[in-house]
Amino acid sequence: MKGIILAGGTGTRLLPLTAITSKQLLPVYDRPMIFYPLNTLIQAGITDILIIVAPDHSGHFLNLLGSMFRKFGINLSFVVQKSPRGLAEAFILAEDFIDGEATTLVLGDNIFEDDFTEAIRTFEKGGRIFAKEVPDPERFGVVEFDTKGKAISIEEKPAQPKSHFAIPGIYIFDSSVVEIAKGLVPSERGELEITDLHRHYLAKEMLDVRVITGAYFDTGTHESLFEASAYVREHRFSERFDSRINEAIVEFTGEFKKIISLKK
Ligand code: TTP
Repeated sequence: MKGIILAGGTGTRLLPLTAITSKQLLPVYDRPMIFYPLNTLIQAGITDILIIVAPDHSGHFLNLLGSMFRKFGINLSFVVQKSPRGLAEAFILAEDFIDGEATTLVLGDNIFEDDFTEAIRTFEKGGRIFAKEVPDPERFGVVEFDTKGKAISIEEKPAQPKSHFAIPGIYIFDSSVVEIAKGLVPSERGELEITDLHRHYLAKEMLDVRVITGAYFDTGTHESLFEASAYVREHRFSERFDSRINEAIVEFTGEFKKIISLKK
């Protein structure tokens, strides 16, 4: 299983914070946002991870993550997305990286409390996505279930949602996703929509949708960024991070301090 983190985009809703760097490098309490999706993948046993970034910020990501995990058996690579053409473009940009294997994609601004290890380890084919009950489903892709709990429809940001189940930003697909993504047509807003991928697998009865119950944050607005920071602080997320990430952060911080003192 390979991992992808989608960390491009423009972050317009977080301006002026995003005027100088990527949304995914802004702090969520005590660490840059990208560490949360990184943790979601690494704690589930994924060690081969591609990070998709916007052109203006590629250097920022490299300065932070370029060699941080080299001793920890975690292989990070980077791809630049020239313009934000939509979430489903990730699979086209990552074609060589995916190389015929299954992939878990996490959005760089999504923070999960749930552990996805079992869902990722047991994945075999088709697609596996998740559903989280939220008060404001119209902001998300929304999945409707029948009385037996089977997913029957998926809509992107519907004005009249058919359920309160939002589809959060973690998706598992087999390698056929690359060709399916290539065949997508941009939506009215000019993006390759991830919900179109979900719909494709749903129509083929190859989509598994699992309800999650842990806390979930999409940190794309000032309000949600603040809420996420308060939650991870209160629930001590950093203590629960994969030990390889915490060790890498300690080592990076030590090296950084050494360089600063040499400069003085
Ligand atoms: P969004 O929050 O939908 O978009 P954005 O980050 O550009 O923010 P805004 O709407 O405020 O302008 O994106 C969700 C996540 O996906 C986020 O982590 C950025 C990432 N993304 C890409 O990497 N490439 C893309 O083409 C898009 C649309 C999003």
